[in-house]
Amino acid sequence: MAAAKEPQIITDKEQMRKWSREMRSQGKTISLVPTMGYLHEGHLSLVREARKDTHLVVVSIYVNPGQFSPTEDLSTYPSDFHGDLLKLASVPGGVDVVFHPQNLYDTKDCRKGSRGGGGGMVSCLEEKGMGHQTWVRVEKLEKGLCGKSRPVFFRGVATVVTKLFNIVEPDVAVFGKKDYQQWRIIQRMVQDLDFPIEVIGSEIRRDDNGLALSSRNVHLSPEERKKALSISRSLLMAKASVEKGQVNCRELRDLVIQEIHNAGGRVDYAEIVDQESLEEVEEIRSPVVFCIAAWFGKVRLIDNIEIKI
Ligand code: PAF
Repeated sequence: MAAAKEPQIITDKEQMRKWSREMRSQGKTISLVPTMGYLHEGHLSLVREARKDTHLVVVSIYVNPGQFSPTEDLSTYPSDFHGDLLKLASVPGGVDVVFHPQNLYDTKDCRKGSRGGGGGMVSCLEEKGMGHQTWVRVEKLEKGLCGKSRPVFFRGVATVVTKLFNIVEPDVAVFGKKDYQQWRIIQRMVQDLDFPIEVIGSEIRRDDNGLALSSRNVHLSPEERKKALSISRSLLMAKASVEKGQVNCRELRDLVIQEIHNAGGRVDYAEIVDQESLEEVEEIRSPVVFCIAAWFGKVRLIDNIEIKI
């Protein structure tokens, strides 16, 4: 068996950019897999995807305060940097660099200045009074689905991904389709802002029972984990129902909401949307994605299924 490859760990953004530029000057192509750490098989599948696409792979591990609101789970977001390195080393070919910055934002205190990055939105960054003022927003796509209950989330994601793109300068970036809205938002941002980067969406990874892999699953009790299976089960039921001819989205949503409710979950949203525009549809006439967010205890999970007709 080949020895596991140890990645180079870079914490400084200038050094990261220098490494990328050096590699590119040698004709090497680079993929970036942005993560917030606490890696699982889903992340590793993104790395395997990235390995196929370019000579070199960079994985970033950074829990971004700009995408959490002060009432969300930034402080309890799980982390295990050492475990992450071991998992990355287990991927055939390994990864070349783990970019692990301590902070990506201006730490100058601007508490006396205006708070809120626009529209009165406050993330953990503004809460801490950081000097950062510039935000990237993908205005239409960020509004629906998760954007309704997490108003600062996609502004924070688009901004930190822009920063990562500017620092790493990758040729390819790989995102998981579990975060479907996030993937579409990044694709749109790259198109609208002319980033010379190919954005790849990688299929959802599930455990043997169908639960979509997520770093947040670690917070589920065994009982909640069983209940949470109602999400993927109900999505499969909806897909099977479409295959039998059901195109009415209200009926399909009711089916899913009932199934999750019966299992003891609380649905945040269950929406059938166009795969590109993410606009809600009433009848399925073209490819859609059925997106769900639901709470099990204190854990909010998301999942989705693409349905082609
Ligand atoms: O999907 C995630 O883990 C994060 O939203 C991302 C893309 C790494 C940005 O912080």
